[in-house]
Amino acid sequence: MDKPKVAATCPKQVELEAGKKYAYCTCGLSANQPFCDGAHSGTDFVPMVFTAEETKTAHFCQCKQTGSAPNCDGSHKNVSQ
Ligand code: FES
Repeated sequence: MDKPKVAATCPKQVELEAGKKYAYCTCGLSANQPFCDGAHSGTDFVPMVFTAEETKTAHFCQCKQTGSAPNCDGSHKNVSQ
């Protein structure tokens, strides 16, 4: 697969905790959107691993077309599933 799967055409609200490590799904195959569940295994995709700098509510992209991953940038409006 060369393109990520469109997991959903809307962002998912997530609660991030400062100092906690997260793995954002970039392939779209995870059943635990928007986070990685290991489903990328066998593809060229790898999760985006990051540590939250602050405790906050965020809206993570599930269409996987955003230009500012892991955050939604509104690109899902142009995506059909
Ligand atoms: S869900 Fe992907 S840009 Fe909004």
